Amino acid sequence: MRPAIRLGVNIDHVATVRNARGGQHPDPVAAALLAVQSGADGITAHLREDRRHIRDTDLERLRTEIDAPLNMEMAATDEMVAIAQALRPHACCLVPERREELTTEGGLDVAGQSDALTPKVHALKANGIRVSLFIDPDPTQIAAAAATGAQVVELHTGAYAQGRAGELERLQRAATQAASLGLEVHAGHGLTYENVGPVATIPQIRELNIGHFLIGQAIFDGLPTVIATMQAHISKAAEH
Ligand code: PXP
Repeated sequence: MRPAIRLGVNIDHVATVRNARGGQHPDPVAAALLAVQSGADGITAHLREDRRHIRDTDLERLRTEIDAPLNMEMAATDEMVAIAQALRPHACCLVPERREELTTEGGLDVAGQSDALTPKVHALKANGIRVSLFIDPDPTQIAAAAATGAQVVELHTGAYAQGRAGELERLQRAATQAASLGLEVHAGHGLTYENVGPVATIPQIRELNIGHFLIGQAIFDGLPTVIATMQAHISKAAEH
């Protein structure tokens, strides 16, 4: 039997709501605690260069107050690598970042930037951090990701979530290729109750990272119910 797929809950958008008024409420660290108490297997937070949602102090508190694996999403910059080396989260997921984008719009161009990325991957690994690269389900990017020494690839499911034809098959082929190269396979972006099932059926997928839908749906149903419902959708699909 395949191991259960882990659910990483991304709490960035709790911080987005907090920052809309500049105060302390709602507290993303309290949301992370509730998510873990509700069964989340890990917490993901993206420290963006412009600090538009998660702040440095949020990450420090997540590291000390939450007893679950912390996945720090970050751009592959010297500033972020230094913060991660000091923080020592369980994992770092390197993502492309553009200031003007609403969210992480595409995967990292690992093939085009491997000379710059490889030393950063090694620097993080040397601090005991598991390194994941957020990439499109593209054979060239997967081969390049493996060559950097990263242990994990997170496949960008954005195009699949938008309903683009052939994207599920691309994800399936990418997961097969990545696992054959010894990479652990994660996936995320734009996943909802409706579209998570087919992704969870991909046998190589070990972890899904989901944020916007869960936090949005929690307004109606509460975070514990939303996490339990998402996990039920994932495990039902993975069993088949
Ligand atoms: N994984 C990565 C690497 C991301 O950048 C994001 C978006 O912040 C997610 C997963 C979660 O995407 P969503 O918020 O659409 O669920």
